[in-house]
Amino acid sequence: MKIVQITDLHLVPGKQDMHGVNPYERLSKCVEDIQQNHSDAELCVISGDLAHKGEVGAYEDLSEILTRLPMPYRLMVGNHDHRDNLRSVFPETAEDPNGFIQSSVDLDAGRLILIDSAEKGEKYGTFCQERATWLTDQLEGCDGRPAYLFLHHPPFEIGIPYMDGMRMLHGADLLADTIAPFTNIRHMFLGHVHRPIAGSWRGLPFSIFRGTAHQVALRLEETEYLVRSHEPPAYGVILLNTDSVIVHYHDYLDNTAFVAEADIARRQKQL
Ligand SMILES: [Fe+2]
Repeated sequence: MKIVQITDLHLVPGKQDMHGVNPYERLSKCVEDIQQNHSDAELCVISGDLAHKGEVGAYEDLSEILTRLPMPYRLMVGNHDHRDNLRSVFPETAEDPNGFIQSSVDLDAGRLILIDSAEKGEKYGTFCQERATWLTDQLEGCDGRPAYLFLHHPPFEIGIPYMDGMRMLHGADLLADTIAPFTNIRHMFLGHVHRPIAGSWRGLPFSIFRGTAHQVALRLEETEYLVRSHEPPAYGVILLNTDSVIVHYHDYLDNTAFVAEADIARRQKQL
């Protein structure tokens, strides 16, 4: 089973440029690439920072672009989002009884659990007791089927001091305690960092993709400012197999794929 993940779109109203790129065009091309190459994916998860400043106009642009997406999608919120503005444009957005924009999706491969980690007005995220109670319910409802967690904020330091200093998840220990009793969680899919990162946290594998707009530079030393970059945008193509989770980092603006002439010649000789 295939799904796709897009993250950190940072749309601005009026299809304006930001940080030297055009988030609207970048996302449009991303959706075009999904149409052309991965229209068989069963779901698209968009894991937060949909709008750069949470404006209604940015969500309206998002709504327009997503009409071209060939599969169902689920929206998540990041620290740049505004829940009420998002709901005003996407009134069907699933939320829990506490008003968090979080939900589960049951697919043949198992249950995808999309956790709302946004903390209003803050760059960091929060995992609180209310979210923990909800997550426990979602995990218990799996009845042993595989579970896949999605959240915007990584619950660990990534080694980039500027990000680690102010932008990660508060309540990471509570999250760890909440998921500890469950042995069916196969992978955690994250956003927020605007970088291609993979690894494991307390034994749970995770992946993070670049965003579709600007990126964050690999600066493992202390910096006075957040250092951004113009590395290529990407999205995730994820294969949920019976015995594996395969995560492809797809630089969708790269058009350098080629077949070697020697391979063509060899094949023609065989025919
Ligand atoms: Fe972001």
